[in-house]
Amino acid sequence: MRILKNVKLAPYTTFRIGGPAELFAEAKSLSEIKESVKFARKNKLKIFVLGGGSNILISDDGVRGLVLRLLIRGADFRDKGSFVLASVGAGEIWDKVVAWAVRHNFGGIENLSLIPGTVGGAVHQNIGAYGTELKDVLHSVNALNIKSGEVLRLSKKGCRFGYRDSIFQHKIGKNYIVLSAVLRLDKKPKPKIIYSDLVKYFQNKKEPSIQKIREAVIRIRRSKLIYPDQFFGTAGSFFKNPVISSGVYKRLIGLHPGLKGRISGRNLVKLSAGQLIELSGWKGKRIGSVGVSKKHALVLVNYGRGRAQDIKKFASLIGSDVERKFGVKLEPEVRFVGEI
Ligand code: EPU
Repeated sequence: MRILKNVKLAPYTTFRIGGPAELFAEAKSLSEIKESVKFARKNKLKIFVLGGGSNILISDDGVRGLVLRLLIRGADFRDKGSFVLASVGAGEIWDKVVAWAVRHNFGGIENLSLIPGTVGGAVHQNIGAYGTELKDVLHSVNALNIKSGEVLRLSKKGCRFGYRDSIFQHKIGKNYIVLSAVLRLDKKPKPKIIYSDLVKYFQNKKEPSIQKIREAVIRIRRSKLIYPDQFFGTAGSFFKNPVISSGVYKRLIGLHPGLKGRISGRNLVKLSAGQLIELSGWKGKRIGSVGVSKKHALVLVNYGRGRAQDIKKFASLIGSDVERKFGVKLEPEVRFVGEI
C-alpha cells in the first residue's frame, strides 16, 4: 500500500474544493486499513476517513495528518425467509447498492436512489430522502476500533441514529472506521409513497413497483437538484432543515402564513430550510464563484473557482438573513474539514 504526500483533495469531493492532504492512502481491504492505522499511530498522525466526498467542505489549506480513502467494495446477501440481510462494503457506491437491490426486487432503499456517496458516508450521516432514512433498513454495522484494533459489530440501536446524525459523528464513534453495513431488505417490497413529491408523481396510479419508485425518485432528483450531475460543484443540501417546537411554529405561521412545516416527533416541527432561504431572497443569487442553485435554495454551488472560505462566508450571510427574518438558526448539514 502506498502512502503519498501532498495530494490535492478537491478532485475527491463533489464540491470540487479543498487543499492537499499532508499524507494520503487508499485502502481496499481490512488489512490495508489496519496497516494505515498502524502507520498513523506510530507517527502520531490524525486520521481522516474519506468516502465519496459528497457531504464535506475541505479547508483551502488542506488536511493535516493521514487522509484514508476507503475502497472496500462488495455486496453479498443471506436469505432469511421473508427478508434478506445484505452486507455491503463501506467503500461501495451507495447508488450501485440501491440499483442492485431494486434489480433483485429487495425493497426498502428504493426511495434513497441517486444519493451520491458511499455506504460508509450513508451510515455516518443516516442519509434520508422521500420519507425513508437509512436507519429504517439498517440491521447492523461492522467497524474497526482504531484505538484497540478490534473489529466490532454495532446494532442499529448502538449506532444512535438521528436526523443526519449517528454515533460516528460523536466522540466515541470517532474511534470507529465503518467497514460494512448490513441492511434488512424485504423480499415482498412495501412501497412507501408518503412524501409529497412521490404522492404527486403517482397520483391516480396503482401501487407502484420498487422499479417504478426508483425511476420516479431519479426523475425528481434530476429535475430539482443539479447534483449529482456534477456539472458544477455542490454537496447537495448545505443546511439541515431546522426543527422547532410546535409552539414556536404556531407563532411563526401567524407572522408568515404559508410557512411549511412537517411534524417531526412529539411537539416538534421540521421547517423547510429551502423555503426559508428562498423567502429571504437568496435563491439563484451568486457572489463571485459561489451561489445558491436556481432550482433548489438548499443547494450551494461552486461555479468553478470557489474556495471553502467563500462558501463559508456566503453560507453565513444566508444564515444571518434567515435568522433576522424568521428568528430560526440554520445549521450546516455539510461537515467542515480542517480550519476554514
Ligand atoms: N422549497 C422551497 N424552495 C426551494 C426548495 C424547497 O420553497 O428552493 C420547499 C418546497 O416547498 C418543498 C419543501 O421546501 O416542498 C421541501 O423541499 P424538498 O422536497 O426538495 O426537500 P428538502 O427538505 O429541501 C430534504 C433533504 C434532501 C432530500 C429531500 C427529499 C435535508 C437537509 N435535505 O430536502 O436531502 O433529498 O428532502 O426527501 O434534509 C441531502 O441531504 O443532501 C439531500 C439532498
